[in-house]
Amino acid sequence: MSSGIRRRSLLSAAALGSTAASLGLSVPASAQPVLGTKPSAATLPAEDGYDLWLRYRRVEDPGQLERYRAALGTLVWQGGGPLQQSAVEELGRGLTGLLGTRVAPRISAPSPAALVVGTAKSSALIRELVPAADLAELGDEGYVVRRVTRRGKHFTVVAAHADRGVLYGAFHLLRLVQTRRPLEQVDLMERPATPLRMANHWDNDDGSIERGYAGRSFFDWEKLPQLDTRYTDYARVLASLSINGAVINNVNTPADYLAEPFLTKLAALAGVLRRYGVALYVTANFAAPIDLGGLDTADPFDPGVRGWWTKQAAEIYGKIEDFGGFLVKANSEGRPGPLDYGRTHADGANLLAGALRPYGGIVMWRAFVHDSDEKWDRQAYLDFTPLDGKFAHNAVVQIKNGPIDFQVREPAHPLFGSLPRTNSMIELQVTQEYTGHATHLCYLVPQWKEVLDFDTLKAGEGSTVARVVTGRVHSYTHFGFAGVMNFGDARNWTGSHLAAANTHGYGRLAWNPDLSAQDLAAEWTRMTFGNDPRVVKTVSALLLDSWHTYEDYTSPLGTGYLTHPPDASVAGHFDPSPTTTTQFHTSDRAGIGYDRTTATGDGFTELYAPATRDAYESPANCPEELLLFLHHVPYTHRLASGTTVIQHIYDTHFSGAARVADMRTEWEGLRRRVDHRRFTDVHRQLGEQITEAAKWRDTLVAYWFDLSRIRDERRAWLQAIVAPADTVLLGGERNELPVQVLNATGSGLRTVTTLDVPEGWRSEEAAAYVASREGQTVKMPVVPPPTPALATLHARPRSGAVPVLDASLRSLAKAVVVPPAARCVHALDAGPDSAPVLKDYARLSPSSGWHEGAGFGWVGNTPDATDTGLFDVVRRDYVRDSAPAVLRLKLPAGRCTAHLLTGDPNTLNRSLIVRVDGIERARSEQLDGREFTWLRIPLDGGSSGREVDLELSAKEDETWHLSACVVVADGPA
Ligand code: GCU
Repeated sequence: MSSGIRRRSLLSAAALGSTAASLGLSVPASAQPVLGTKPSAATLPAEDGYDLWLRYRRVEDPGQLERYRAALGTLVWQGGGPLQQSAVEELGRGLTGLLGTRVAPRISAPSPAALVVGTAKSSALIRELVPAADLAELGDEGYVVRRVTRRGKHFTVVAAHADRGVLYGAFHLLRLVQTRRPLEQVDLMERPATPLRMANHWDNDDGSIERGYAGRSFFDWEKLPQLDTRYTDYARVLASLSINGAVINNVNTPADYLAEPFLTKLAALAGVLRRYGVALYVTANFAAPIDLGGLDTADPFDPGVRGWWTKQAAEIYGKIEDFGGFLVKANSEGRPGPLDYGRTHADGANLLAGALRPYGGIVMWRAFVHDSDEKWDRQAYLDFTPLDGKFAHNAVVQIKNGPIDFQVREPAHPLFGSLPRTNSMIELQVTQEYTGHATHLCYLVPQWKEVLDFDTLKAGEGSTVARVVTGRVHSYTHFGFAGVMNFGDARNWTGSHLAAANTHGYGRLAWNPDLSAQDLAAEWTRMTFGNDPRVVKTVSALLLDSWHTYEDYTSPLGTGYLTHPPDASVAGHFDPSPTTTTQFHTSDRAGIGYDRTTATGDGFTELYAPATRDAYESPANCPEELLLFLHHVPYTHRLASGTTVIQHIYDTHFSGAARVADMRTEWEGLRRRVDHRRFTDVHRQLGEQITEAAKWRDTLVAYWFDLSRIRDERRAWLQAIVAPADTVLLGGERNELPVQVLNATGSGLRTVTTLDVPEGWRSEEAAAYVASREGQTVKMPVVPPPTPALATLHARPRSGAVPVLDASLRSLAKAVVVPPAARCVHALDAGPDSAPVLKDYARLSPSSGWHEGAGFGWVGNTPDATDTGLFDVVRRDYVRDSAPAVLRLKLPAGRCTAHLLTGDPNTLNRSLIVRVDGIERARSEQLDGREFTWLRIPLDGGSSGREVDLELSAKEDETWHLSACVVVADGPA
């Protein structure tokens, strides 16, 4: 991906030969002559991260450089198919950069040493150098990299049985040089542990990415089939990890991808991927026969439905001959599926498998079936184990690593090992949905390793998850790895430079799950930031500690799902929100944790092999890190160390957050060893992580103290809770905001609490005496300006030098300011008739038809209404529609202003567009869940008043929302 590096030194440009030009190679800046200088930040060229780990900077050590040049400076390739061509291009590009001298393929080896690449089929030299028997063992994807001496010549050989092996071998050789391995004795043979090594993208056709934190999707459906170099670089990155399949759309998908105009676009994309050995897959919507085919059912037993899928498969393969197949999310979180017709998951999977079978395609059927929170941990097991042996040979069940949903800590999914007669694969989440997005460093390889090393015991000792999903326990025909990707259109692909370590680690583990986290961290660091030992040591340590650190300050001991309620927005599952997720962690005043035991809980432990079940069943014997995932225990329950659970929670939150600050200090030690740009980016990111970690620490510690009222033995503090945090304040009036001040010190305290308010607001401090371990509610007077607004207020208690949990999200109020009805021309609180209405406001509901007397109401189409029950009286409910609706308002004489509130307490909110007399007057941005905004529209009632029509609408296929409409007369100018 040296596409960003176009500079060529005169020397190397002059040396460029015609082959390189014909291969389209540019010469990296690092191909400049060796200057013999040690790199420093000043000489390190700025990098933007686009190259990821495919950086081919020149080898610094002169002696080592000479040895590599001697061995690899001559590249012999005697021809081969497109995959070999890609391999040779990459070698040309990579070695030219690494060796600082131009390397281009030639067909013979005049020099005393050469790099020889190819297959026996396409290269006489390979036939001579590598015994046929060795190659025969390699399968379609394996390769050897070895040093062979013949006739006094030293050959470094990258050989394979098939072209794809040559490609993977080429990347391996480059990796050896990038990590500065000596090649004199090299002799390695590699074969993948699994045939399926998938990149799953959750990208949507509108360019958004579900759970994507690196910008927008780089699959540009508007422009495709027109291609972009980024697609080639993407394919190179996948191939460098030997990922051989890409599912390019979200599991929550419309049916559109299965037909034109998408097929032509997909075919173009597949063409790029094909050159790097990556097969294209799409997710299929199970209701496609209805949505696309116009049938009235998607029942898998219906002949019409079967015929439709058969026809569709033929059409797809007509365009993309090596199409991989489908990934399906069915009957989960509202998706359509075979259960809608009284059929089973196997019936559904087999329907699609049947359509794909003639072409060699496969169906990956997801076991993530989530309907009810209560059954979440067991449902997949209960739904799928009775179907064992019923799935077609070309269907494979895709199982998330754990039974819930990519939490910081979960046990291995009980389905692993429980489907001896059903192809199974593992799904890991590379994108950090619940582990800090692209903001927190959380290297997940150690987590994945723990799951892979878990012994299911289901087929006797040694039936580890790794062995199950690599087909070594049961005789599966399809098995492997799926990784939910973290790529977006961010220049550095993953939004944060360090998050790319997860992408790399995922791909490498999919090839070989036995690789260690330590080796992978070091390998990625060397390839990404160079081989300076201090850099390798520091960055590896940062990566390897980061998951535990994140766990410590967010959710120790397996307390799961503490992020705010699920919503599809970008910001979802990031901030702590223990009060709204109590159904998942089931903490109360008496204790903490989710009882999943068979004796007293939901019976989840029963799904494991007897020895595991017995261990999990007992709070004393279960792995401590899963204690609260499996058990509800008193806060005073003692851990093996003798510490109580609550004390452990306090300690880990404080120490974990403190470690983030240390992480940044460690990184600062690399200031002159990493190029300035990436150094600064990572430094900034770690700064954000420090702030976010403090938020987690203070919010959770405050929450557990509030519930348990047990003091931390090592620390003492004051904390404030604003409850409810979402509140309505009347503009221009004195409001009283209730703030609870809690004393987590050993003695009574006189406290004073102030409120941070925006400019133009007034507030007064409030004093209170608070006894030790008690809470006292003070009423904070606050006067916002009269105009509608949204504001965050921060309650800050103090008492001398007592520390305060200042970063707690619970000490924030998110207020919406509305004028009192008496000051308004119209004061309308929108929502269904059944939902509560703000005092003195009028209800604007679907039944509010226009009539003179009311002075407001709908003309023509009337919208629908929703009450979410979340947030305050104004924001919890709204009217909504996908069609436009006209709200007529009677205006008095003179100028006035309409203020329209839009947002959604739950999920993302699309644009609200407001037109007056056919002219667009206001439009909101798309908002994340729980975000709101006011639109402001100046109006004029003229000299004697008039009626005005506000036309409310959304973009095509979207829905608009309106929570409130307030019209106030403008004051005298
Ligand atoms: C999680 C995630 C969803 C996703 C789902 C899935 O629940 O939050 O965005 O669709 O997993 O894996 O299907």
